[in-house]
Amino acid sequence: MGILEVKDVGKRFGGLQALGDVNLSVKENTVHAIIGPNGAGKSTLLNCLVGKLIPDTGSVMFDGQSVLGRSPHEINQMGISRVFQTPEIFGDLSVMENMMIPCFAKRDGSFRMRAIENTMREKDVVEKAEAMLVDMNMADKRHMNAASMSRGDKRRLEIGMCLAQEPRLLLLDEPTAGMARADTNNTIDLLKQISDERDITIAIIEHDMHVVFSLAQRITVLAQGTPLVEDNPENIKGHPKVREAYLGETAA
Ligand SMILES: Nc1ncnc2c1ncn2[C@@H]1O[C@H](COP(=O)(O)OP(=O)(O)O)[C@@H](O)[C@H]1O
Ligand SMILES: [Mg+2]
Repeated sequence: MGILEVKDVGKRFGGLQALGDVNLSVKENTVHAIIGPNGAGKSTLLNCLVGKLIPDTGSVMFDGQSVLGRSPHEINQMGISRVFQTPEIFGDLSVMENMMIPCFAKRDGSFRMRAIENTMREKDVVEKAEAMLVDMNMADKRHMNAASMSRGDKRRLEIGMCLAQEPRLLLLDEPTAGMARADTNNTIDLLKQISDERDITIAIIEHDMHVVFSLAQRITVLAQGTPLVEDNPENIKGHPKVREAYLGETAA
């Protein structure tokens, strides 16, 4: 049994079957990649895992509990955090202020937003945020305005903000999309470090094969809403089904 069990999940948008019959098992403490061409249903699947969409059929269990019908906040409280395709940080706040938000929320047990001046007085929140910035290798950037950072650093901050919630499962939707190669490699190194050092399961949706093969222990190939093949990276490389899935796709 995996920590995340997706069984027979289907989702339609009007006449379009975005997800057919998706079955997926993500083992605890592994990095599992879900790959597939544009429009394969990857983001739809992810949205079903985090409460943004409710599938028409099937079940999604996290650690033996159903996530279906729960709000994104409840799912977050269950131990699932998600990194979006576009970094979700507060551009007008400093790096440190951004990091304090999830630290405060975690201790408080809710996402009650308070004035930053108030939270600044909360010693444990400050200490935790500082420790997270050290972990993320960003301590020297604590006073920087978040909007002025590179794309890679924004992503690093955002991943750190997710980790501050102490998730057991981290979900990432194309975390390196639109990044320069150097930023992509930084993100790969960060995710490697996280999966090596932490008791965490990572499920990553990814288009970039360099990222996939650098990180994943297990890969599911999705095409037209249906998993074509699931295997380890060695067997996925050059697999005819993978070529078939990407055939006819225009270069992104
Ligand atoms: N909210 C929506 N309404 C209608 N169609 C959607 C919606 N979201 C996604 N789709 C369609 O579902 C299919 C799968 O989309 P998506 O999950 O975003 O694919 P991927 O992330 O693999 O590129 C696509 O054909 C897309 O146009
Ligand atoms: Mg997508």
